[in-house]
Amino acid sequence: MLKFNFNNFSVERCLNGNSHNEINSHLEKVRKSFEVIKTNPPGFVQLLEDISYVNEIQQWVEDSVIGKYDHFVVLGIGGSALGNIALQKSLKPLNWNRMPKTQRDGLPTIDVWDNVDPDFVQSNLEVIDLPKTLFNVISKSGTTAEAMSNYLIVRQLLLEKGLSPKDHFVFTTDPEKGVLNKIIEQDGIKKFIIPPSVGGRFSVLTPVGLISAAAAGIDIEKLVQGAVNAKKRLFDSSVKDNPAAMIALHHLLFGEKGMVINVMFSYSNALFYWADWFRQIWAESLGKATDNDGNQINYGLTPVKAIGATDQHSQVQLYNDGPNDKVITFLKVENFHHQMTIPSLHTDIEALSYLGEKSLNQLIDAEQRATAYAVKNHGRPNMAVEFPRIDEEHIGEFIFVYEMATTLLGYMKHINPFDQPGVEDGKIYTYALMGRTGFEEKRKEIEGN
Ligand code: PA5
Repeated sequence: MLKFNFNNFSVERCLNGNSHNEINSHLEKVRKSFEVIKTNPPGFVQLLEDISYVNEIQQWVEDSVIGKYDHFVVLGIGGSALGNIALQKSLKPLNWNRMPKTQRDGLPTIDVWDNVDPDFVQSNLEVIDLPKTLFNVISKSGTTAEAMSNYLIVRQLLLEKGLSPKDHFVFTTDPEKGVLNKIIEQDGIKKFIIPPSVGGRFSVLTPVGLISAAAAGIDIEKLVQGAVNAKKRLFDSSVKDNPAAMIALHHLLFGEKGMVINVMFSYSNALFYWADWFRQIWAESLGKATDNDGNQINYGLTPVKAIGATDQHSQVQLYNDGPNDKVITFLKVENFHHQMTIPSLHTDIEALSYLGEKSLNQLIDAEQRATAYAVKNHGRPNMAVEFPRIDEEHIGEFIFVYEMATTLLGYMKHINPFDQPGVEDGKIYTYALMGRTGFEEKRKEIEGN
């Protein structure tokens, strides 16, 4: 189980911390929001009631991907990409794509093309062998310009090489909506569905995140089981013992005190990509103009990512001495996969000799604890999420806890955490500028400005 430490959120420990009275006066609000989730479970919760879909994905990947392709590429963006990247980076070696195939047990390299920067796309194209590549086009709406453009580029290249789209694409999309369904029918491309009730940024445990994970040999059953176990624990515990509820409640209270910047500070390179995933779920779910009654509130908490120890030499000066508007969440690891000893050399130079025979594991732990203590002493609240190990079960638990915390905070603020009207706006003006039929008026509007 993950260990959540909220001690440095308390007013006894930290100048701007939350008091027992503040917490207690909001407990009923969190409890009611939890009841709403229990009686009317959102899509990402319902998903975990029957996880037989996981076996289907695993079976298909074993039959149709492993041993057949050298490269697996995801074409998607936002919720259709960030979870894939985070799973790959946290559960497989960071140098996966640079390892020889034999060291990868014959499994494919994994790439996620989540941008339309032409230099980025070209550089990605240069490291794959098209005839040996399977492309997973992921788009819930089946219309997003970035995923669709990259799809069109790849399709053209396949056709030029006389390769059949059916052999090189698998689509992950809505059961009915969107243009991908039309192409599936036309070409007989393999399709996986994203349940309509599961929003993009909550979809990492659907086929969206699981196909590329299974292709890399990640144990997707253990991953989803980690979320199922977390669900049971959260649903059975009291609010005060419920980490998702406490994350939501503390951040709500800090937000009301003007501490509206939330830093996820990972003391692990492998976990750092979850800070990217967190940025999306926190920003898109909670950044809203109006509440559910139409009152203008312009609510939101700004998520920021940082990596330790590296960013101690970049960000911590600001966190300690700058505006007191930040709440920090440290991610830390109890048992790294490797133990690395620092050799005892230059024993006559004190500035080096104290490091001798200590381990990098000790050093990174000391750096995290020292930073947490220092920022607390500067009145900056911080909490820690400790992973006993980075493995499938703990990652599944982390995903579910943060999906729940986001939803609970949204419900407590009386906003809809599952829509993203601000993202849709940008999509519409992009269609207009790219000359899509039906968006002529929008084009005139933007060009006139
Ligand atoms: O969370 C969301 O809904 C969005 O960030 C989407 O994931 C993103 O816009 C991509 O959308 P789609 O999967 O429809 O291509």
